[in-house]
Amino acid sequence: MTYSDDQHAITAHDSEEDIRNRDIKIFINGEIVHRDQAKVSVYDSGFLLGDGMWEGMRLYNGKWAFFEEHMDRLFDSCKAVSLDIGMSREEILEALTKTAEANQMNTDVHCRLMITRGTKVKPFQHPGLSRSGPTIVIILEHSKPSTKLLDRGIKLATVPQVRGLPMSQDAKYNSHSKLNCVLACLQAEQAGADEGLMLDPHGFVNTTNSCNFFIVRKGELWTSTGDYCMNGVTRAKVIELCQHHGIPVYQKNFSLFETYGADEAFLTGTFGAQTPVSFIDGKQIGNGQAGPMTRKIRELYQTLIEQECQS
Ligand SMILES: Cc1ncc(COP(=O)(O)O)c(C=O)c1O
Repeated sequence: MTYSDDQHAITAHDSEEDIRNRDIKIFINGEIVHRDQAKVSVYDSGFLLGDGMWEGMRLYNGKWAFFEEHMDRLFDSCKAVSLDIGMSREEILEALTKTAEANQMNTDVHCRLMITRGTKVKPFQHPGLSRSGPTIVIILEHSKPSTKLLDRGIKLATVPQVRGLPMSQDAKYNSHSKLNCVLACLQAEQAGADEGLMLDPHGFVNTTNSCNFFIVRKGELWTSTGDYCMNGVTRAKVIELCQHHGIPVYQKNFSLFETYGADEAFLTGTFGAQTPVSFIDGKQIGNGQAGPMTRKIRELYQTLIEQECQS
């Protein structure tokens, strides 16, 4: 292993410490309560089985970025597992707004919206045992990605856990059950890295345990075909931005061979936008810092967010 700086693992979701988060209020089934009082039943389907769906979103200048895209994914996911949210998109937006107001939050906010199949009458698997409607939770936190992430970059290690075929657990479900990803992250941590780089069943580079993945080679952006990864909203926006600005972008199969030799690599996700990758399997990528293309994409994305979330 050739990691030279501190060996302390950071995550793609590290944020600047904000003490206001110690007293946030959380939406839980229509009520808004202090985080210490926000509790769900031990019979909840999400707790018992990971039977639920979630979305990570961001609030800037009082506007939820790419709200419709997040709702498209959430409603598709819930429909596919016959989970009746019991709320329209408009009602979800209202609940988000109410929660933000209760917390006096307006910008640089991260949201985790969670919908589970609800409380079960017995602690067993059958979905029919959830009989009292879904559990809906909204956690909003003051959140700015850590600058350490941008300076030091993320270290990845390739892990044996793959992104499977859609007939096992389709990677497009943003489900509460993320054990495959948790295992991948643990494996990466044991290898001295921050996140796991996951391959697809054919051995092509796919995604990480919590973000989508891009490489830059000779001025081109490459990302996986999309067949085995989360249909990330940020991933889609980066592809659209490249197409709009004449930057060559390809969704294609590529292997570790081309990945290790990339000029740059970065992760995408709602939380951190684009996070540079410094090392993969102990091999430095480019000069080990955010390269010119990563910085350019970050700038374009920042402008897109400003346009999307004008006050
Ligand atoms: C496994 C995985 N990949 C990628 C992403 C990034 O998706 P998005 O850009 O929509 O935040 C997420 C976020 O939920 C995820 O869980």
